[in-house]
Amino acid sequence: LVIVLDFGGQYNQLVARRVRECNVYCEIYSYRTDIEKIKAMNPKGIILTGGPNSCYLPDSPTYSKELFELGIPVLGLCYGAQLMMHVLGGEVKKADVREYGKTEVLIDKTASKVFEGVSTPTICWMSHFDYISRVAPGFEISAHTADCPVAAAENAEKKLYAIQFHPEVLHTVEGTKMINNFVKNVCECAGDWKMDAFVENSIRAIREKVGGGKVLLALSGGVDSSVAAGLLSRAIGKQLTCVFVDHGLLRKNEGDEVEAVFGPNGSFDLNFIRVNAQERYYSKLAGVEEPEQKRKIIGEEFIRVFEEEAKKIGAVDFLAQGTIYPDVVESGLGGESAVIKSHHNVGGLPDYVDFKEIIEPLRDLFKDEVRKAGLELGLPEELVFRQPFPGPGLGIRIIGEVTAEKVRIVQDADAIYREEVAKAGLDSDLNQYFAALTNMRSVGVMGDERTYDYAVALRAVKTIDFMTAEAAEIPFDVLQKVMSRIINEVKGVNRVFYDLTSKPPGTIEFE
Ligand code: XMP
Repeated sequence: LVIVLDFGGQYNQLVARRVRECNVYCEIYSYRTDIEKIKAMNPKGIILTGGPNSCYLPDSPTYSKELFELGIPVLGLCYGAQLMMHVLGGEVKKADVREYGKTEVLIDKTASKVFEGVSTPTICWMSHFDYISRVAPGFEISAHTADCPVAAAENAEKKLYAIQFHPEVLHTVEGTKMINNFVKNVCECAGDWKMDAFVENSIRAIREKVGGGKVLLALSGGVDSSVAAGLLSRAIGKQLTCVFVDHGLLRKNEGDEVEAVFGPNGSFDLNFIRVNAQERYYSKLAGVEEPEQKRKIIGEEFIRVFEEEAKKIGAVDFLAQGTIYPDVVESGLGGESAVIKSHHNVGGLPDYVDFKEIIEPLRDLFKDEVRKAGLELGLPEELVFRQPFPGPGLGIRIIGEVTAEKVRIVQDADAIYREEVAKAGLDSDLNQYFAALTNMRSVGVMGDERTYDYAVALRAVKTIDFMTAEAAEIPFDVLQKVMSRIINEVKGVNRVFYDLTSKPPGTIEFE
């Protein structure tokens, strides 16, 4: 186990992700985590993340000196690096110029264990306004840049490493190598954490936990809940009941597709129940425009529907959910990150839910790890590689109030977009792409008629972990074809936009 201590920076999940890419298991904890708890977990290494504060200010997140005296290797990144210096007697100051973006870093100590095999100069991602002006006693400078005298420093004897830049970000060309070097060379992790072990262990753990009990799973048909269903079905078969709520916010025809895979004619051993709750959702959402409120309504309604189903089924012991690690961290339950969006499958569980316990078999996995687990379970590839679809569905792809009419528009536009993207052979290249309906109406002309209709926004992103993303370059002729088909075939639309925003500063979804 490697522990990532979160100081509130935006790349913290990426740090964990990179460590796991080295087949080393790691978890994120808040910097507020007690030292005794850390000791009890007996980690092989600790990584301190970046963060938005200045470590020399009195109220900034900090950690006691003891952390660096445990004999456990510590790697400080950005704020974590500065904090390590500050706590151990070095000096951190505000810089005259903020260093931001791709920067050439010169390695001064090529024999450093973390820089093994790294070229010099090497391109790294910098993002800081404070800098280390003097290293702590016992440390030597191992890298610098034109503007930054200490891009990295280390006390190899005590296994303490400080890196000012962000090796976890892909813009740091050899960043993964550096993290791999730290966990393998310094922490001496074996790197044998693999998916088959995860699946086997999970099946065992599920059986142990569930015993002869009944489990009810919220199946959305998305990758996460499908993999959860596969895993649970493998572990406990018919003790599992999957309730699939068609909330009327699914992609076109998706309800029937889900039923084909998991229903009685599908290939899984489980009980499958489909609930058609469209009307119920539309009436709850009528007049509601605020995104967080929409998410809460959709989430709560989910829970209520399950509760009702559970009552019909009789005693149910566990409610299973396809929650994955980024949901947990983004909802502010793990680490230090602020609540960005309340993911509906984590937040807002009302107290009166009468299940004994929640079971979340994928809670520790990142998205691509979930896919690997799905393949390991023998789920069909088209399901495992299905692009992610958020729990609140089209509810958060319709900006502003949701109505049946708007759902129809966005479903039809999205179906055309997907069809054309697939025809152009681009689908396997894009990690997520969809049409959304803006709440903007504008004037157009069609035939000789004036129109005053909605604008559809097309989104397509490339991403590895969905924490950061870039807008994908879709050939212009494909976009044009999609635009012209949508405007011709979908009543109520007279304009189509393509969204160029990356994440950050945008998010992948619109709400
Ligand atoms: P954002 O919009 O936060 O989305 O950049 C990141 C990824 O998460 C998906 N997403 C959700 N998934 N429940 C989910 O299960 C949700 O409430 C939710 N909100 C966003 C989104 O589709 C993207 O893949």
